Amino acid sequence: MIELQGIVQTYAGPQGPVEALRGIDLSVPRGQIFGVIGRSGAGKSSLVRTINLLNRPVAGTVRVDGRELTTLNAHDLRTARRDIGMVFQHFNLLSSRTVFDNVALPLEIEGLRRAEIVARVEPLLELVGLAALRDRYPAQISGGQKQRVGIARALASRPQVLLSDEATSALDPETTRSILALLREVQRELGLTVVLITHQMQVIKQIANQVAVIDAGRIVEQGDTLDVFSRPQHETTRSLLDDVVPQELPAVVLDRVRALLGGVPSSQASLLRLVFAGEDSDKPLLSDVVRRFGVDLNLLHGQIDEVGGRPFGTLAVLARGAQEQLSSTVAHLRNAGVLVQEVSHV
Ligand SMILES: Nc1ncnc2c1ncn2[C@@H]1O[C@H](COP(=O)(O)OP(=O)(O)OP(=O)(O)O)[C@@H](O)[C@H]1O
Ligand SMILES: [Mg+2]
Repeated sequence: MIELQGIVQTYAGPQGPVEALRGIDLSVPRGQIFGVIGRSGAGKSSLVRTINLLNRPVAGTVRVDGRELTTLNAHDLRTARRDIGMVFQHFNLLSSRTVFDNVALPLEIEGLRRAEIVARVEPLLELVGLAALRDRYPAQISGGQKQRVGIARALASRPQVLLSDEATSALDPETTRSILALLREVQRELGLTVVLITHQMQVIKQIANQVAVIDAGRIVEQGDTLDVFSRPQHETTRSLLDDVVPQELPAVVLDRVRALLGGVPSSQASLLRLVFAGEDSDKPLLSDVVRRFGVDLNLLHGQIDEVGGRPFGTLAVLARGAQEQLSSTVAHLRNAGVLVQEVSHV
């Protein structure tokens, strides 16, 4: 649905040009919620703004729904942009217009008649849960409600693509959850392709099917969200993930392991970090290995969670037994699809 190739973006800075995007290739399939995560200054806003050419890249091509946008004239580009809605971090509402009139604005600009505008805006206000607040002004509604207006306005021109640049970062955690749930609902209901920019892994975890990690103007890792959560490859990904899936065992756990291991030869114990993703999480694998191989297992630390609507869990266990029992245990878990990391630095 969206194909970016070789995107380079530079800005004029006081000390010469700033290279914000250094050759980005990205392919977003239709009907996905595609997350892009990165630290402040990584180039996220620059990237998302090239998709509707709010920023024109200095090199590269932008195809949306098969159309190459960089070659369109001003008129055709305006038409193409109706297919691409955008939701902003700070809502960008007009304070002198009511909720209804803010959502209606793009349709007025398009030149629709009043009756058509009403027929489009009313169901949208219903969809985002704001029908009762249609005559309020932005100053009279909450941040979450403002963002609902922003979402309804982005949907007014019936786009196929919705771009969201940090749409939830000005909101508290509870409101964030409700706005993300709304985005997921409209994505499903309208069959949209959503590109969601964020610096919070929590946001990716809640709704993205796929994720790309951007660092200093380059995509350093991308894939299915569950895969990236299970096997993060790049240092930046690991550090961003640390907030929601601790990548290292806490010091207190390591202390407990040392206490448990007092006197046990290191060949007869193994500290394992297990990552269960998707449907594997449902199998009774631990009781299985205890029964089959007679190992002793101490559960040390863990969490069970959901990533992109699918089960995901990490578990630290101390396995004790003869070397053969330990290696059979690891092999069995791996065969069952569990990611097993042997932690050596105890
Ligand atoms: N208009 C501009 N002029 C000059 N430099 C810019 C401009 N816009 C962005 N930059 C620089 O380009 C780089 C990428 O900026 P961008 O806004 O894309 O980052 P971001 O990932 O969205 O960051 P944040 O999370 O803080 O919003 C930064 O180094 C930034 O300072
Ligand atoms: Mg930004």
